[in-house]
Amino acid sequence: MKKVFKVVLIIIVVIVVVVGILASYIALRSIPKYTAEEIDIKVESTPARVLQGTKLASMLCRNCHYNDATQKFTGKELKEAPQFGTIHTANITQDTVAGIGKWSDGDIIYLIRTGIKPDGQYIPPYMPKLIHISDEDIYSIVAFLRSSNNWVQADNTRQPKSKPSFLTKFLITIGAAKPFDYPKEKIPASDTTDLVKWGKYISCYQLECFSCHSKDFAKNDFYTPEKSTGFFGGGNEIFNQEGKKLVTLNITMDENTGIGTWTEEQFIKAVRSGVVPNNKPALRYPMQPYSNLTDIEVKAIYVYLKTIPKLNHKVERKFD
Ligand code: HEC
Ligand code: HEC
Repeated sequence: MKKVFKVVLIIIVVIVVVVGILASYIALRSIPKYTAEEIDIKVESTPARVLQGTKLASMLCRNCHYNDATQKFTGKELKEAPQFGTIHTANITQDTVAGIGKWSDGDIIYLIRTGIKPDGQYIPPYMPKLIHISDEDIYSIVAFLRSSNNWVQADNTRQPKSKPSFLTKFLITIGAAKPFDYPKEKIPASDTTDLVKWGKYISCYQLECFSCHSKDFAKNDFYTPEKSTGFFGGGNEIFNQEGKKLVTLNITMDENTGIGTWTEEQFIKAVRSGVVPNNKPALRYPMQPYSNLTDIEVKAIYVYLKTIPKLNHKVERKFD
């Protein structure tokens, strides 16, 4: 008996030591570096691209990079991702030292698609990557970043370095969080004559509504959004700017637990202004009023949502 006890004790000690070494290895390591490919693209700026880029950046980048004090994209502390550590978004103005004034167009595009910066640093999932957005839309975002819009004029405000949490480093160490592959082929603009295709493009590839509105960020399939667990069925826990928890809602067309009873007009109003049917309180951050989308774009999302499987999944809006 005594011998058995001794062996068990040794095994336990060995396990504790190994786990301890692994944990300290993860805690002490910094985020690994990757190699950024050089993408040889020079984006031509046209008024149409600047317009489209401004529209996209106001929905896709502003929430995180706009700073109220400077009224520019100088970055700020990102309070809505406490689980990932103390995170500061970056200064992405045209400043050549504090901002991205020295980055090439290819550097920016490569980062937005894969998450890898020109120096090889990887930005973990607290910055979303746009792997399926069309080439034309990504060129528009670049044209906006280079434009005369006040949001991106050079400003030398510096942000402190982000301090990723143990969880972030753990996810990267086990490979659960890693850069995305750079697309192998050109990505054409969406077919806007087919509302279902266009709605899918906007909600899955351009604005990634599915990423918040499915069950869990960790169970999303970014390469094939439809394969995400609980696709558009809501229930994903998410933080607001005060660090309080909210839950995303079921926006499949299920009549009982989703938005199956909503009319197209009600949907357009909710998405564009945050006002929902039945006098319920208006939608709150991080659901933003997509006021820059046109009625027809939101209609396309509605038409697309009508084609995906209805999920019977009850989610209560959280108010506290
Ligand atoms: C959910 C928040 C979030 C959104 C949305 C977001 N970013 Fe970021 N971004 C970050 C964070 C956080 C960092 C800094 C990461 C770090 O500290 O490693 C960052 C860093 C960057 C950098 C690197 C700058 C540098 O000097 O290191 C660029 C460029 C950038 N973002 C561009 C964009 C663009 C363009 C968009 C919109 C298409 C966008 N981001 C949307 C959070 C966000
Ligand atoms: C950053 C995460 C996020 C993104 C991206 C997002 N949503 Fe939401 N959405 C939410 C949250 C959270 C709520 C619930 C807000 C509340 O409780 O006040 C919500 C609520 C809604 C509702 C209300 C549903 C109901 O039953 O009242 C609709 C409709 C909606 N979103 C549609 C969209 C569409 C369409 C898109 C893309 C264009 C989108 N959302 C993108 C987080 C998000």
